[in-house]
Amino acid sequence: DKKITIAIDGFSSTGKSTVAKRLAKELEYVYVDTGAMYRAVTLYMMRKLFVSNDHVNEEAIIRHLPFINLHFEYNDVLGYGEMYLNGENVEKEIRYLEVSQQVSKVSAIPQVRKMLVKQQQEMGKSKGVVMDGRDIGTVVFPDAELKIFMTASTEHRAQRRYDELMDRGDEISYEDVLQNVKDRDYMDSTRDDSPLIKADDAIEFDNSNYGKEEQFQKVLEVTKKKI
Ligand code: C5P
Repeated sequence: DKKITIAIDGFSSTGKSTVAKRLAKELEYVYVDTGAMYRAVTLYMMRKLFVSNDHVNEEAIIRHLPFINLHFEYNDVLGYGEMYLNGENVEKEIRYLEVSQQVSKVSAIPQVRKMLVKQQQEMGKSKGVVMDGRDIGTVVFPDAELKIFMTASTEHRAQRRYDELMDRGDEISYEDVLQNVKDRDYMDSTRDDSPLIKADDAIEFDNSNYGKEEQFQKVLEVTKKKI
């Protein structure tokens, strides 16, 4: 088999990362969760109080970017890389709804994107990578051999995210999760820099009515034709 680059983009909570992780394992490829990188930068900026519900200090955010060091560290038990922010494991904290509520504001800042896109291109330069995000097939790897674009109805996605957060014991309401999914879709699709949009050559999957196993098998099928 030849090693290729696989870009998986789409709306939030469509099951992208579940499919991407499993695909990477199956192919013995590296998995990169680019959302985790935007989330980690956001967490850093939240701790500095540069972004909150009612404000975002772009100038301060840009000024502090050089102080951020991100890396993934493979966890044998989980079977994927966990996100580290300046040496601290933040894998859990970056998934909190509080971070989800600020991340789209931070990820709309062009300097933030520029820094992370560069790191992502570096991580995927030897191919054999499955990368999931919003702009992988359009901006990070426009030449990716396989591009997948995932969608699902807003309600299916909110339910998915809600179940995930409840499983982890978070105390949140379905309404808040649904609102966050809608807000992020809107902000991610309408920002000026690298908006979420399907690449012309991406294969679209609507996951509304498929279970995890079916989703994965469909993606595996198109992948096998490319390798
Ligand atoms: O994938 P996930 O839902 O964890 O991404 C969190 C947020 O990070 C998205 O809502 C989006 O604002 C941002 N993001 C992005 N570009 C990417 C990946 C994520 O702007 N490639």
